Amino acid sequence: MKVTWTLQDGGTRTADVAPGTNMMEAAVANGINGVVGECGGCLSCATCHVYVADDWADKTGGPEDFEDAMLDATEAERKATSRLSCQIVADDSLDGLHLIVPTP
Ligand code: FES
Repeated sequence: MKVTWTLQDGGTRTADVAPGTNMMEAAVANGINGVVGECGGCLSCATCHVYVADDWADKTGGPEDFEDAMLDATEAERKATSRLSCQIVADDSLDGLHLIVPTP
């Protein structure tokens, strides 16, 4: 499946992501600045914060309770479409997913 990120400099990058990969791993593998993934995806760092593009927010759904609490600790402003990208896992229903990298 394909994922597009809007980057901090306003550009975009699109990459193929294998099903089962989470969006933090995909961002790190593709050198997306601003998505760090310090905790390795175990939901304890909030450095993988992204905004889901408005037209994708229904498909990804919102955060679970613990993720929701962690989103209060992000460096960049929290928005309605904020997610921790390690908690979004690629599957074919998300083909074309568009994520926006926050700017602190
Ligand atoms: Fe640490 Fe997502 S990688 S919370």
